[in-house]
Order: sequence, then structure tokens, then C-alpha cells
Amino acid sequence: MSATPFIIRPAVVGDAPAIGAVHCSNVKQWRRWEADGGARPARYADLGPYQRWLNGGPWMDADSCAHHLQRLFAAGGIALVAERRGRVLAEVELHVAEEPPPYGRNMNLAVLYVHRNHHGHGLGTALMRHALALAEAHQCHTFTVAHAEAPNFYARHGLRKESQWVRYRLPVGGGKIKYSAEPLPDAPYDLVRGWAMPIGRYQNALHDWERTRPGAVPDFVEWRGLRLERHWITVSRHRAALILEESPSAPGVANAFLFTPAHSTTDFLPAIRDLAALFGFTGLRCFTRADTHPPDAVATDYTHKLFLKRLR
Ligand SMILES: CC(C)(COP(=O)(O)OP(=O)(O)OC[C@H]1O[C@@H](n2cnc3c(N)ncnc32)[C@H](O)[C@@H]1OP(=O)(O)O)[C@@H](O)C(=O)NCCC(=O)NCCS
Repeated sequence: MSATPFIIRPAVVGDAPAIGAVHCSNVKQWRRWEADGGARPARYADLGPYQRWLNGGPWMDADSCAHHLQRLFAAGGIALVAERRGRVLAEVELHVAEEPPPYGRNMNLAVLYVHRNHHGHGLGTALMRHALALAEAHQCHTFTVAHAEAPNFYARHGLRKESQWVRYRLPVGGGKIKYSAEPLPDAPYDLVRGWAMPIGRYQNALHDWERTRPGAVPDFVEWRGLRLERHWITVSRHRAALILEESPSAPGVANAFLFTPAHSTTDFLPAIRDLAALFGFTGLRCFTRADTHPPDAVATDYTHKLFLKRLR
């Protein structure tokens, strides 16, 4: 362990290359995805921005990392770095959303990465403690980590498994249902602040709202034709915001994201299925709590546990 202390500070967009380097250091083998869907070993220098992204998201390339940080800050997200002697060695990203119980005002940790050569030096623990203190300062009811890659690490900080979430496949269309639909504007999170996310809650409501807004990801030519449908849907006078995003790995299939008012108990699924068929999608994927899926849903192989710490 190094004797020089490290400091924790808010990240800035200019940290993008250093933050990218932290994340990249944890990639054991770089790969290139071929047209047949197979992935072959590759060298980082030989990969373009899109291929780098496929290895682990926006942090895999300095430019896409900068774009990601810009969007994160514009949306009110928080990124902190730990640095020693002016060198960034670890990063954490956090979003505070307001949702109905059981999450309430919640801070979600989406990523926590320590440079591979500096694991085990207390950096992860320090960032985690800082994040929890920040959640207290924001008067959050809960602190969550979804898709925890290091569940035992989070358990040491008091987080426990709250629920299991599963991505289900559903047929589109089927059945008559009365509803109306109109375009959903591209607007900041305030439009749905306080609403629940019964479908598509991969991180938390703020994070997933921002991730599905137009321009959230770089304009890679490979993704240019992917459809993004955003609509208000109204069923029995209850309104919800629906986003259908075409899956890059399954053309024609829509991933659904649904934001509903806290008091709403309306079942929006028949309307979602009908709209998906109307827009020409051939299949629907809904990520929901494992205990709330519809009868004809078929589980896919994507699942994760949500870890939660109650703060008040
Ligand atoms: C997991 C991670 C963030 C921990 O940070 P770190 O700086 O290496 O951890 P610390 O030095 O603060 O370790 C604190 C303690 O947690 C333990 N720990 C570290 N990683 C752990 C893991 N994956 N599972 C369980 N315990 C872990 C350490 O052994 C240490 O225990 P000790 O206090 O008894 O010695 C870091 O190893 C990392 O970036 N890993 C790769 C990416 C990842 O998995 N991120 C989390 C998912 S988003």
C-alpha cells in the first residue's frame, strides 16, 4: 500500500481520458465483434470507437467517455474520482431519483471502478463511504446498486438483496384494448420525477430516463437505423410515458421502458403490446421484477439482483 494519501473530488469532463483508463485497465481481453455475432481477440489500438464501446460501454474510449460525462452532468448525475499525486485511480457514478416506495428518494451507484493496478488499497472503500455520506446529505431514503459485479463488497457496506429482476420476452399485438397515444417530448427527468418504473428499471428512474433520451449514446453509424419510439399512453384516464428502443442485438425487437405515476395501478401492458405491433416491432422485451411478470412472458438469460441499503 502506498503511504501517499489520495483525495476524492467531483469529476470534470476533462477527466475523461483518465477515467477511461481506469475502466479499460479492468478489461482482461479486448475483442472485436464480427458480422456473424462472434467475438475474436483483438488489440485495443486496432479497435475503433464503436468496437471499443462493445467491450464495456462509454468508458472504453476517451471521446465516448467525455460525451457520457457531459450528458451525466447535464442530467444532474454525480461522478467522483479518487486521485493520488494528481493521477485518477478510481471513479464512481451516482444518480439521485425520486420514486414511490420501496425506493423513495434513492441514490443509485451505477459504476464503481478502481484501476486494476491499485485494487486492494482502500480506494473502493473510500469512494463507497463518500457515496453513502452523499446519499445521507441528499436525504435519500435508500441507496442501491443494481447488477452488482462485486456483491460481497457491497454487503460489507450494509447493502442487502432487495429483489430479483428478469428480462422477459413477450409477443406483440393480441387483443382489443382502448387507449390513446401521443408523442412524448424529449425533456429532462422532471417530467416524470416521482413516478415509478415498473418496466425497464435497469438502474434507477433518473438514470434510465436519461439513457433512453435521444442523443444519449454517440451517433455510431452501426446504430443509426435503430428505432426509438417515445409516447404518452393513456389507459382508463391514467397516463404513462412509454419508450420502445430497438435492440441492437435483436433487430425488430423493442426493449420497453415504462414510467407511471405513483398512484397508478393500471395495467398498461396490453396497450404496450398493441403499440409495439403498430410500430412494426416483431417482439417485445420487458425487464421487470421477477415476481410481477405476465403469464405468457418467457424469461431470457438476462437477470440481476438489486442490492439496497435503507437510510431512513
Ligand atoms: C470491487 C472494487 C471496486 C473494490 O475496490 P478496492 O479499492 O479494490 O477495494 P478496497 O481496497 O477498498 O477493499 C476493501 C475490502 O473489500 C474487499 N474486496 C475488494 N473487492 C472485493 C470483491 N470483489 N468482493 C468482496 N470483497 C472485496 C477487499 O478484500 C478489502 O477487504 P479487507 O478490508 O478485509 O482487506 C475494485 O476491486 C474494482 O474496481 N473491481 C473491478 C470492478 C468491479 O467489480 N466493480 C464493482 C462493480 S460496479
